[in-house]
Amino acid sequence: MIDKFPHYIEFRHVYKTFDYPVLVDACFHVDPGQTVAVIGRSGVGKSVSLGHIMGFLKPDKGQVIVAHNDITEYPETRLREIRRKVTMVFQNGALFDSLTVADNILFSLELREDYDQQNKEDVVDGLLRMVDLQEFKDAFPTDLSVGHKRAVAIARALAAQPECVLYDEPTTMVDPIMSAHLTELMLRLKSQLGLTSVVVTHDLNLMRRVADNVVVLFEGKVIYFGAVSEIDNCEHPHIQEFLAMDRVELG
Ligand SMILES: Nc1ncnc2c1ncn2[C@@H]1O[C@H](COP(=O)(O)OP(=O)(O)O)[C@@H](O)[C@H]1O
Ligand SMILES: [Mg+2]
Repeated sequence: MIDKFPHYIEFRHVYKTFDYPVLVDACFHVDPGQTVAVIGRSGVGKSVSLGHIMGFLKPDKGQVIVAHNDITEYPETRLREIRRKVTMVFQNGALFDSLTVADNILFSLELREDYDQQNKEDVVDGLLRMVDLQEFKDAFPTDLSVGHKRAVAIARALAAQPECVLYDEPTTMVDPIMSAHLTELMLRLKSQLGLTSVVVTHDLNLMRRVADNVVVLFEGKVIYFGAVSEIDNCEHPHIQEFLAMDRVELG
């Protein structure tokens, strides 16, 4: 499939209408090992785009390529195979409050028949170290800050050894120190594990630090798809406004 679909993820002229046209002729792609940021105002279709990548949503028109497969017409059984390779970190972490941090991660290893109990515990320790949460091993999710919960959710997603991780606003509602921490974590996963990722974000600092390419959505359309390093040269007024907002916030 890699010859036919050279990009790891690709939107080919994707259309999706709900109450209004949310995606109109959306085209962009993500290559293996790359991080692509998706930015744009609230309600512009960022989460809807991730939903298409996960196969939770189907386009009205166009094709969605994921893990070098055209998943547009895939039935649920084949989507499940794709979701082993591509996993999503949900904003609320979707953690079990009655399980400790370690057990939450262990839970996602339960189905791994290739590991015995000791292996599983070693993997959990490794993952906790990777996301810098060893000290919270025996804590319960309710004891953790939003940012720490997101780090646990990331560790849990990694337990499945995915090729690609989708992050939906990973630094929203998190204090600046924790934002920086999560940003560095995402960067580390990219360089150490070669993870491919798509990150929906309003956080331009995160975008500049982690993304290779950026997709800007505006009124249903992709108004920019290109290198993060070139985005400042884009003269589209909406993009300029978006970037200026950041400069104001930074003082
Ligand atoms: N499953 C759905 N059914 C109907 N409308 C939806 C569904 N998912 C998203 N929408 C609508 O699509 C639009 C884009 O939503 P979304 O992608 O969540 O925005 P955001 O860019 O803030 O993530 C919103 O108007 C939302 O109400
Ligand atoms: Mg959203």
